[in-house]
Amino acid sequence: MKIKQLLYAVPMVLFMGCQAESSKQTTDEVVDNGTTKEAHRLLYHFTPPSGWMNDPNGMVYHDGEYHLFYQHNPDSTVWGPMHWGHAVSKDMVQWEHLPIALYPDSLGTIFSGSAVVDLNNTSGLGTADNPPMVAIYTYHNAEGERAGRNDYQTQGIAFSLDRGRSWTKYESNPVLPNPGIRDFRDPKVSWNEEAQKWIMALAVADHISFYSSKNLKEWQHESDFGQGIGAHGGVWECPDLFKMQVNGSGAEKWVLLVSINPGGPNGGSATQYFVGDFDGKRFVLDEQFSADVDEKGIWIDYGRDNYAGVTWSNIPAEDGRRLFMGWMSNWKYANVVPTEKWRSAMTVARTLTLAETSEGLRLLSNPVEELEKLYQNEYTLESQAVASALDISEKMPFRSPALQIDLELELANADGEFAVELSNDQDQKILVGYDAAKNQYFIDRTKAGTHKFSDEFAGIHYGPRLASGAVHTMKLLVDVASVELFADGGKTVMTDIFFPDEEFTNVRLVSQKGNVRINAGKVTDLKSIYNGSL
Ligand code: FRU
Repeated sequence: MKIKQLLYAVPMVLFMGCQAESSKQTTDEVVDNGTTKEAHRLLYHFTPPSGWMNDPNGMVYHDGEYHLFYQHNPDSTVWGPMHWGHAVSKDMVQWEHLPIALYPDSLGTIFSGSAVVDLNNTSGLGTADNPPMVAIYTYHNAEGERAGRNDYQTQGIAFSLDRGRSWTKYESNPVLPNPGIRDFRDPKVSWNEEAQKWIMALAVADHISFYSSKNLKEWQHESDFGQGIGAHGGVWECPDLFKMQVNGSGAEKWVLLVSINPGGPNGGSATQYFVGDFDGKRFVLDEQFSADVDEKGIWIDYGRDNYAGVTWSNIPAEDGRRLFMGWMSNWKYANVVPTEKWRSAMTVARTLTLAETSEGLRLLSNPVEELEKLYQNEYTLESQAVASALDISEKMPFRSPALQIDLELELANADGEFAVELSNDQDQKILVGYDAAKNQYFIDRTKAGTHKFSDEFAGIHYGPRLASGAVHTMKLLVDVASVELFADGGKTVMTDIFFPDEEFTNVRLVSQKGNVRINAGKVTDLKSIYNGSL
């Protein structure tokens, strides 16, 4: 965070000259450059070919392509003058890297924001036949900040008429000037059918402000939400507002995602959410959710490494999914993690659903089924009781640092504990498990390898269980330097990164204080998204 703050102050002149287009780079070329052999390079998660990356931005589906823009400093592996990097995918799994979409200009560097397809050409920036893709982002003016002004963050727009390949900044930016508030950023815009207007959710210091517009160019303030509600251990950032069906009922609710930094449940950055209703003007908390939420917050992911995530815009109605992706890092150490040419990865794309749990209405996350395209070999576990440890990988006909592990486990005693242990032969390991006495899932990365780079890194992270009964389902996605846990069908989700000196390819199930029974289980190794081999 300190480095980040320091770099906010880098003079604009340092990067005003770098407008040249970066050359188009495909995942194949990344392999040709040998980068999949780099230490800690993930095999099936999105990473920038080189340079720094943070938040996903402008996620929008258009014409058969999922667009992923991202906070990017192309000239360094630490946070700095922000650009929008760009990639497209047909399946959210295999990505094609495209040239940088948005460069800093005289109004500032390009902070986080969203993109929409303006299907009715309400902005007039395209035509009825060729509707524009419009990006709405925050200008961060470092000079203004240095000068001690409060109004250095404003909102601007840019448009593309060629499927996001080239971008033109709107001539009358900013479209939303700053009213004198230091933290005023990360616009997430969507079309509101009922109000027949665009709605912008904007992070404003300790709350979310909602603005509306008929044309994406003129914005009116509608309402504010969040002061004194939910977690407030840090500044509010990167909101998202969307409508969801409640699983198994015709009911509809609105969900508001709010990232906060610091103040997450396990320290540092994390994303909380609220369930309620939105009438085109005002977000009002659902009564039950309002009773459940306190200053501890309710989180989309209880791990340390899922931040600033938002959902894709313009997903076709016939698909109907609410698709999410987050930045797999934490501002506590993001700038110093031990990768060389690049920094940070995204989570896998996830489908969000809203369902009743033992704790009330909650957001569930699960990996998108498109990931199945990467499945290679599968190893099925026999149903059996495990008294202390079972070496799973010993019997597997394959080894890989890129695995999906699916388990249905049954815990005999109320104070029992079990964990999947991923390790290397240097006795470095990460444990992903459940502690019955605490009724919490956990990820223990205290011995997961290098953590000298930051004394904020090592630790055990906990997430509450939102299901009851002795049977637990656990899906783990493991990829070289990351693990994502989806427990009880996505009710508890935890994402953590790690940096072992040698890849983790040993898998064991360990149990403490009595038996855990494997009812069913399988391990699948996942192909790299690069066309080369390991
Ligand atoms: C979140 C964030 C955003 C901001 C961006 C700057 O991680 O701090 O609020 O727009 O990163 O890179």
